[in-house]
Parts: sequence; structure tokens; C-alpha cells
Amino acid sequence: MAKKLKVGIVGSGGIAVGCHMPGYASMPDLCEIVSVCDVNEEAAKAAAEKFSVGSVTTSYHDVLNNPEIDAVSITTPNALHFQPTVDALRAGKHVLCEKPLAMNASEAKEMCKVAKESGKILQVALQMRFSGPLKFAKEFIDAGHMGQIYYAKAQALRRRGVPSWGVFIDKDKQGGGPLIDIGVHILDATLFLMGYPKPVSVFGQTWDHLGKNPALFNNWGDYDRSKFTVEDFAAALIKFEDGSAVTLESSFMGNMDGDPFQTQVYGTKAGAIVKGWGDDAVRIFTEQDRQLFNLTPVNVPKVESSHIAEVQAFVHAILEGAPSPVPGENGLTLNAIFDAIYKSSITGREEMVDVSVE
Ligand SMILES: NC(=O)c1ccc[n+]([C@@H]2O[C@H](COP(=O)([O-])OP(=O)(O)OC[C@H]3O[C@@H](n4cnc5c(N)ncnc54)[C@H](O)[C@@H]3O)[C@@H](O)[C@H]2O)c1
Repeated sequence: MAKKLKVGIVGSGGIAVGCHMPGYASMPDLCEIVSVCDVNEEAAKAAAEKFSVGSVTTSYHDVLNNPEIDAVSITTPNALHFQPTVDALRAGKHVLCEKPLAMNASEAKEMCKVAKESGKILQVALQMRFSGPLKFAKEFIDAGHMGQIYYAKAQALRRRGVPSWGVFIDKDKQGGGPLIDIGVHILDATLFLMGYPKPVSVFGQTWDHLGKNPALFNNWGDYDRSKFTVEDFAAALIKFEDGSAVTLESSFMGNMDGDPFQTQVYGTKAGAIVKGWGDDAVRIFTEQDRQLFNLTPVNVPKVESSHIAEVQAFVHAILEGAPSPVPGENGLTLNAIFDAIYKSSITGREEMVDVSVE
């Protein structure tokens, strides 16, 4: 049997224990987690115990210095994606880095550059595209059934959903609010369906009217309003080189009906609403012989866990010498768009988006 891939985990909190480690554990014939790291030793020990991993450390350098290790998951908070990723690639490890790829485009560019130089895989953990509805919709679009997609409306909206744990409300540690935390998923799903057109410019606005208000109810627990330094709502119009455009809306709080998390794509032959999950996750709107049809596909592929599918794609890509299933450049595109939205909100002008990597 071929050698098993040896994996290390850097940051053993929620996403590592809930998604990455189960992903690797789901392929016992192909890979093995051999080291778990967290600055919080108790967290590292608990994660290692749960998945029967022998080696525990509080320094990620120990993981990178282990010559046995082929690949790592970087599952630290956003501000700690850049350095461990760059160090891991330079140490010759393949990297599956959590989303958003970086705090900003300048970090993301460097990460892509180092990945290219190292010849190792840099995959961004954007699992929505591994879900059944997204897989189906992508194949449907690529088969030409929707014609040319020229516009999309992407929404990752929560009415009262400020995370009350972790660093989600701290701009310095997180890089931004809902835009960078959940907008990243729906924008990736949208651009994935559209074939990742190159962004040119952005007109955007962010607000923080609700998130700082202690009088308001929050569905996701109480938090210190005085520490809320991110936006609670963001909206933007993003224009692309091929003439297409996307409007993006993302919120932790907003006075609206429900919590829409979906993208609506408009093609020259048909349009569709696509969600990552749910019974009516794909609805198609089309016309034939001057009759309008609303179609609901009934046997959309079932994917048990898109998180696990993403980890499996990472392992297969390494073992098969295939390209990154979610390249760092996609993560850079998202970071560059977010940078331009934040900038546009301050300047009040349309801002250019630069996704070039030296
Ligand atoms: N893909 C998704 O849907 C999804 C969902 C949740 C979180 N995430 C992402 O995963 C990342 C982590 O989020 P989380 O919810 O697991 O947070 P978490 O706080 O539960 O876990 C992060 C862990 O990293 C550890 N850590 C911090 N600095 C470290 C360092 N220098 N070296 C080693 N460990 C360190 C912390 O002690 C903590 O245990 C974030 O980037 C977040 O955006 C993605």
C-alpha cells in the first residue's frame, strides 16, 4: 500500500475538532493526523485525545519541523492564518487554510506567491462549493443550460446573529465583520458558479448602527457592545472584467424578514436561486416556447458534510498530484474585493480591485 499522508493540525478549536479532524479521520487508509497544536495546551490535548493523536504541542513550529508531516490544516483565528501558512509552505507542507484566506489582500498575495514558489498546494477552506446543491448548479451552468451568467445577487444575511464567542466582533483580530466571516462563503459560491471572473471595481458601504446597541436582542447570546468594532451590515456592487456584476449583502444584524443565505444567478437562458442546504436548495427559472417554467430538481446529489468533502478533496489532490481544489488565488480575489468594499465605504467612491500576484 502507498504511504499514508501525515497531517498536522495548527489551532485545535471549533472548526478543527468539528470539521477538519473528522475529515481526515474519515479516510483512515489514506491519511493520518500525527500532531495537534494549539497555544492553549488543554485544547490541543482534548483534540488529540478525541482523535487518538500521540503528539501534542503548543508551538506550530514543532509541527512544521517534523519531517514526517506532509500537510497541515491552519485552523487558527483569521489574524493567525498568514504567518503559519507561509511558514508551512516554506517548510514544504501542503496547506488547507481556513477562510477567509487572510486579513487583507496584501497578506493573501504573499501567501499565493509563497505557495507558487513552494510548489505545494494551498487550499482555502470554502466548503460551500462542495455541497450537493452547488455541485449540481455548477454542472448545470457548465453544461450551458443557463447561458451566460451576467448578474448575481448574493446574500449572507442574519437578522440577529452576532457570534457572542471568539473574536468575531474584533476588527483587529478578525479583519472585518459579517462580510469577511459569512459574506466570504456566499461570494465564493457565487463566483464559483460564474467561473471566477476577474473583479475590476467595487462600490460598497458598511454600517454599524445595530451591533453596538445594547438594547437590542441577539439570537446568538449576549456580548459586550462596547467591544463591537466591525460592521453589522455591508452592501456592495462588484463589477467584473467580462461585463458581469454581483451585488453582495451580508449582515450579523438587520431589520428584515428571516436570514436569507443564498445566491440568485441570472443567465441569458435561465436563472436560479441556489442555497447550500435545505429541501428547496436549487430553483431554476426559465422559458420555453413562450411559456415560463419554475423548476425544482429532485435528485440533487446528497453530500453528508461539505466540510468533510472539502478535506477529502485536499487529501486526494495531494495524493494524486492534482491542482488545489480551492486555489489560494480565489481566496485572494475575495480578500481584494473585501478590502475595496471597506475602502469604498470610507472614500464614498468606486474603488479598483487588484488581484495581481507577482
Ligand atoms: N469554514 C467555516 O464554515 C468556518 C466555521 C467556523 C470557523 N471558521 C474559521 O476557522 C478559524 C478558526 O475558527 P474557530 O471557530 O475554530 O475558532 P476557535 O477559537 O474555536 O479555535 C481557534 C484555535 O486556535 C488557537 N490558536 C490561536 N493562536 C494560535 C497559534 N498561534 N498557534 C496555534 N493555535 C492557536 C486558539 O487557542 C483556538 O483554540 C477562523 O479563521 C474562522 O473564520 C470557518
